[in-house]
Amino acid sequence: MSPAAALAYGVTRFPATAAAARAALLELQASMPGFEPAEQLDLGTGPGAALVAARSLWPGLRQVGVERDGEMARLAALAAGPGAVPELGSLQAFALAAPSSAYDLVTASYALGELGESEADAVLEAALGTARRAVLVVEPGTPAGFSRIVRWRAAALSRGAHVAAPCPHEAACPITDGDWCHFSVRLGRSRLHRRLKGGEAGFEDEKFSYLALSLGPGEPARPTARVVRHPVVAPGRVGLTLCRPDGFFTETFRRRQPGYREAVSARWGSRR
Ligand SMILES: C[S@@+](CC[C@H](N)C(=O)[O-])C[C@H]1O[C@@H](n2cnc3c(N)ncnc32)[C@H](O)[C@@H]1O
Repeated sequence: MSPAAALAYGVTRFPATAAAARAALLELQASMPGFEPAEQLDLGTGPGAALVAARSLWPGLRQVGVERDGEMARLAALAAGPGAVPELGSLQAFALAAPSSAYDLVTASYALGELGESEADAVLEAALGTARRAVLVVEPGTPAGFSRIVRWRAAALSRGAHVAAPCPHEAACPITDGDWCHFSVRLGRSRLHRRLKGGEAGFEDEKFSYLALSLGPGEPARPTARVVRHPVVAPGRVGLTLCRPDGFFTETFRRRQPGYREAVSARWGSRR
């Protein structure tokens, strides 16, 4: 990439991918209370979105990134600051020679989808081998992004990993053809961001799908249900679409019924 192209990616996409990575890391953290990673490995670091997101939650992290593009790696070093070491290298090479159990947390944000299917699967496999406690994969919130997440979820479960988020269970995903599980995070747009995107709105909503995996010891503290759509609010009632261990449901909570107050404060993506 030219310096200008890398910078353009950084300015237009970094705020949104960093916000999505942070939102997913917060859910991982909620399912793994007390998890305090000391080191993070970030795969396909780009300008460092997942490094910055993780550092905002765990300020003392030692961070390593794998990135094939020199300009991107340079931006990541600037964005993530001291303690982060973006390394020039390919994900394919990482998959062939990943050190075993070397990092508490391994992240791949909007990166594995750039690889072919078998290459991406091999990188996920290597990520599971090199992580001590947790792996987080974030993908665009599209049907294609979600189909990769579902595939990696099955692969990770078959290797003995646990799903920490977003799923409230480890049974087969109940989402059927034509639908996809994704979430949304709202972020403010700076003046430069608005200008570059040719948009007037002072915010944007980034749609993402993710998979947070815990490698033990023990099971993660999964929620009993996950809100998987915007709540539908009407006078005196709230409708929530929930993913639960027993399937996919829309539940209506009426004023003065149990659960109404919690339903009013629920958001798309929140735990129940
Ligand atoms: C869409 S960007 C995402 C960057 C960042 N993780 C984020 O969330 O904004 C994908 C990054 O993965 C890097 N990448 C893609 N394929 C790669 C490979 N085979 N080896 C190393 N890096 C790769 C690209 O250079 C790019 O910086």
